[in-house]
Amino acid sequence: MSTAVNLTELREGGVQDVPSVAAIMQAAFDPRYGEAWTNAQCLGMLSLPGVWLVVASVDGVDSGFALSRSTGDEAELLLLATRPAARRRGVAGALLRAVIAEARARDVEKLHLEVRAGNDAVRLYRREGFEKVGERRAYYRGKTGQVFDAQTFSRTLA
Ligand SMILES: CC(C)(COP(=O)(O)OP(=O)(O)OC[C@H]1O[C@@H](n2cnc3c(N)ncnc32)[C@H](O)[C@@H]1OP(=O)(O)O)[C@@H](O)C(=O)NCCC(=O)NCCS
Repeated sequence: MSTAVNLTELREGGVQDVPSVAAIMQAAFDPRYGEAWTNAQCLGMLSLPGVWLVVASVDGVDSGFALSRSTGDEAELLLLATRPAARRRGVAGALLRAVIAEARARDVEKLHLEVRAGNDAVRLYRREGFEKVGERRAYYRGKTGQVFDAQTFSRTLA
Protein backbone atom coordinates (compact mmCIF):
# COMPACT_ATOMS: atom_id res chain seq x y z
CA MET A 1 0.00 0.00 0.00
CA SER A 2 1.38 3.43 -0.84
CA THR A 3 0.58 6.62 0.99
CA ALA A 4 0.50 9.95 -0.82
CA VAL A 5 2.26 12.18 1.66
CA ASN A 6 4.20 15.11 0.28
CA LEU A 7 6.71 16.78 2.51
CA THR A 8 6.89 20.52 1.87
CA GLU A 9 9.86 22.28 3.43
CA LEU A 10 10.46 26.01 3.39
CA ARG A 11 13.88 27.63 3.56
CA GLU A 12 15.29 31.11 3.26
CA GLY A 13 16.88 31.49 -0.18
CA GLY A 14 19.65 33.64 -1.60
CA VAL A 15 21.50 34.40 -4.84
CA GLN A 16 22.64 30.77 -4.97
CA ASP A 17 18.98 29.81 -5.54
CA VAL A 18 18.48 32.01 -8.63
CA PRO A 19 18.96 29.09 -11.11
CA SER A 20 16.38 27.07 -9.20
CA VAL A 21 14.01 30.04 -8.98
CA ALA A 22 14.45 30.68 -12.72
CA ALA A 23 13.59 27.06 -13.52
CA ILE A 24 10.45 27.21 -11.35
CA MET A 25 9.50 30.53 -12.94
CA GLN A 26 9.92 29.18 -16.48
CA ALA A 27 7.70 26.22 -15.66
CA ALA A 28 5.13 28.18 -13.67
CA PHE A 29 4.38 31.36 -15.59
CA ASP A 30 2.46 31.26 -18.86
CA PRO A 31 4.43 33.44 -21.34
CA ARG A 32 1.12 34.70 -22.74
CA TYR A 33 0.80 37.05 -19.78
CA GLY A 34 4.27 38.56 -19.34
CA GLU A 35 4.36 38.11 -15.54
CA ALA A 36 7.70 36.25 -15.25
CA TRP A 37 11.01 37.98 -14.63
CA THR A 38 14.40 37.37 -16.23
CA ASN A 39 17.29 35.86 -14.23
CA ALA A 40 18.99 39.25 -14.31
CA GLN A 41 15.91 40.91 -12.81
CA CYS A 42 15.83 38.30 -10.01
CA LEU A 43 19.54 38.68 -9.31
CA GLY A 44 19.30 42.46 -9.32
CA MET A 45 16.32 42.42 -6.98
CA LEU A 46 18.01 40.02 -4.55
CA SER A 47 20.90 42.43 -4.15
CA LEU A 48 18.61 45.25 -3.01
CA PRO A 49 18.13 45.96 0.69
CA GLY A 50 15.04 44.51 2.33
CA VAL A 51 14.52 41.77 -0.27
CA TRP A 52 14.00 38.19 0.86
CA LEU A 53 13.37 34.87 -0.84
CA VAL A 54 11.55 31.83 0.49
CA VAL A 55 11.99 28.54 -1.40
CA ALA A 56 9.66 25.55 -1.00
CA SER A 57 10.83 22.05 -1.74
CA VAL A 58 8.40 19.17 -2.12
CA ASP A 59 9.90 15.75 -1.43
CA GLY A 60 13.35 17.27 -1.88
CA VAL A 61 12.63 19.02 -5.20
CA ASP A 62 12.57 22.84 -5.30
CA SER A 63 8.98 23.46 -6.37
CA GLY A 64 7.95 26.96 -5.37
CA PHE A 65 9.22 30.31 -4.21
CA ALA A 66 8.15 33.72 -2.95
CA LEU A 67 10.16 36.89 -3.48
CA SER A 68 9.32 39.92 -1.33
CA ARG A 69 10.67 43.29 -0.33
CA SER A 70 10.16 45.41 2.76
CA THR A 71 10.79 49.12 3.12
CA GLY A 72 10.01 50.65 6.49
CA ASP A 73 6.61 49.50 7.70
CA GLU A 74 5.44 48.37 4.24
CA ALA A 75 6.28 45.29 2.19
CA GLU A 76 5.43 43.91 -1.23
CA LEU A 77 5.07 40.34 -2.41
CA LEU A 78 6.85 40.56 -5.77
CA LEU A 79 6.58 37.01 -7.11
CA LEU A 80 4.90 33.80 -5.99
CA ALA A 81 5.03 30.59 -8.04
CA THR A 82 4.63 26.84 -7.80
CA ARG A 83 5.71 24.32 -10.44
CA PRO A 84 2.66 22.87 -12.23
CA ALA A 85 3.54 19.36 -10.97
CA ALA A 86 3.30 20.50 -7.33
CA ARG A 87 0.14 22.61 -7.49
CA ARG A 88 -3.00 22.44 -5.35
CA ARG A 89 -1.11 20.92 -2.44
CA GLY A 90 -0.84 24.08 -0.41
CA VAL A 91 2.69 25.08 -1.47
CA ALA A 92 1.80 28.68 -2.39
CA GLY A 93 -0.37 28.99 0.70
CA ALA A 94 2.55 27.89 2.91
CA LEU A 95 4.88 30.32 1.12
CA LEU A 96 2.43 33.18 1.52
CA ARG A 97 2.01 32.52 5.24
CA ALA A 98 5.83 32.41 5.60
CA VAL A 99 6.02 35.79 3.84
CA ILE A 100 3.38 37.19 6.22
CA ALA A 101 5.29 35.83 9.25
CA GLU A 102 8.58 37.33 8.08
CA ALA A 103 6.89 40.65 7.30
CA ARG A 104 5.47 40.71 10.84
CA ALA A 105 8.95 39.96 12.21
CA ARG A 106 10.15 43.04 10.30
CA ASP A 107 7.39 45.17 11.90
CA VAL A 108 5.63 45.56 8.58
CA GLU A 109 2.13 46.97 8.93
CA LYS A 110 0.90 46.66 5.34
CA LEU A 111 1.67 43.98 2.78
CA HIS A 112 0.91 44.78 -0.88
CA LEU A 113 0.89 42.77 -4.08
CA GLU A 114 -0.02 43.08 -7.73
CA VAL A 115 -1.65 40.29 -9.66
CA ARG A 116 -2.99 39.92 -13.19
CA ALA A 117 -6.76 40.28 -13.27
CA GLY A 118 -8.20 36.78 -13.62
CA ASN A 119 -5.17 34.97 -12.17
CA ASP A 120 -6.11 31.90 -10.06
CA ALA A 121 -3.87 33.32 -7.33
CA VAL A 122 -6.56 35.92 -6.52
CA ARG A 123 -8.54 33.22 -4.67
CA LEU A 124 -5.50 32.43 -2.55
CA TYR A 125 -4.85 36.09 -1.76
CA ARG A 126 -8.46 36.72 -0.74
CA ARG A 127 -8.43 33.58 1.40
CA GLU A 128 -5.32 34.86 3.20
CA GLY A 129 -6.99 38.17 4.03
CA PHE A 130 -5.93 40.43 1.15
CA GLU A 131 -8.40 42.96 -0.22
CA LYS A 132 -8.43 44.61 -3.60
CA VAL A 133 -7.42 48.25 -3.35
CA GLY A 134 -6.79 49.28 -6.94
CA GLU A 135 -6.32 48.50 -10.61
CA ARG A 136 -3.53 49.18 -13.05
CA ARG A 137 -4.58 49.15 -16.66
CA ALA A 138 -2.34 47.38 -19.21
CA TYR A 139 0.27 46.58 -16.55
CA TYR A 140 1.48 43.27 -18.02
CA ARG A 141 2.59 42.82 -21.62
CA GLY A 142 2.50 39.24 -22.91
CA LYS A 143 4.76 37.56 -25.44
CA THR A 144 2.59 38.56 -28.39
CA GLY A 145 2.25 42.17 -27.24
CA GLN A 146 -1.21 41.74 -25.75
CA VAL A 147 -1.67 43.73 -22.54
CA PHE A 148 -3.37 42.67 -19.30
CA ASP A 149 -4.67 44.66 -16.35
CA ALA A 150 -3.25 44.23 -12.87
CA GLN A 151 -5.13 44.40 -9.61
CA THR A 152 -3.50 45.71 -6.46
CA PHE A 153 -4.27 43.91 -3.21
CA SER A 154 -3.15 44.70 0.30
CA ARG A 155 -3.48 43.32 3.79
CA THR A 156 -2.94 44.92 7.14
CA LEU A 157 -0.73 42.91 9.49
CA ALA A 158 -1.89 43.23 13.07
C1 LIG B 1 -1.11 30.67 -8.30
C2 LIG B 1 -0.13 29.60 -7.82
C3 LIG B 1 1.09 30.25 -7.16
C4 LIG B 1 -0.84 28.70 -6.79
O1 LIG B 1 0.11 27.73 -6.33
P1 LIG B 1 -0.34 26.42 -5.53
O2 LIG B 1 0.85 25.90 -4.80
O3 LIG B 1 -1.04 25.49 -6.44
O4 LIG B 1 -1.39 27.03 -4.51
P2 LIG B 1 -2.08 26.30 -3.26
O5 LIG B 1 -2.10 24.81 -3.45
O6 LIG B 1 -1.44 26.82 -2.02
O7 LIG B 1 -3.57 26.83 -3.43
C5 LIG B 1 -4.13 27.75 -2.56
C6 LIG B 1 -5.49 28.21 -3.06
O8 LIG B 1 -5.36 29.05 -4.21
C7 LIG B 1 -6.50 28.84 -5.07
N1 LIG B 1 -6.06 28.26 -6.33
C8 LIG B 1 -4.79 27.90 -6.66
N2 LIG B 1 -4.76 27.42 -7.93
C9 LIG B 1 -6.02 27.50 -8.40
C10 LIG B 1 -6.63 27.16 -9.64
N3 LIG B 1 -5.93 26.64 -10.66
N4 LIG B 1 -7.96 27.39 -9.79
C11 LIG B 1 -8.69 27.90 -8.77
N5 LIG B 1 -8.17 28.23 -7.56
C12 LIG B 1 -6.86 28.03 -7.39
C13 LIG B 1 -7.41 27.88 -4.33
O9 LIG B 1 -8.27 28.64 -3.51
C14 LIG B 1 -6.41 27.09 -3.51
O10 LIG B 1 -6.95 26.46 -2.40
P3 LIG B 1 -7.57 24.97 -2.57
O11 LIG B 1 -6.59 24.14 -3.35
O12 LIG B 1 -7.76 24.53 -1.15
O13 LIG B 1 -8.86 25.17 -3.33
C15 LIG B 1 0.32 28.70 -9.02
O14 LIG B 1 -0.82 28.29 -9.73
C16 LIG B 1 1.29 29.38 -9.96
O15 LIG B 1 2.51 29.26 -9.82
N6 LIG B 1 0.77 30.10 -10.99
C17 LIG B 1 1.62 30.78 -11.96
C18 LIG B 1 2.40 31.92 -11.33
C19 LIG B 1 1.46 32.99 -10.79
O16 LIG B 1 0.51 33.38 -11.45
N7 LIG B 1 1.74 33.49 -9.55
C20 LIG B 1 0.90 34.47 -8.88
C21 LIG B 1 1.18 35.86 -9.30
S1 LIG B 1 2.83 36.40 -8.91
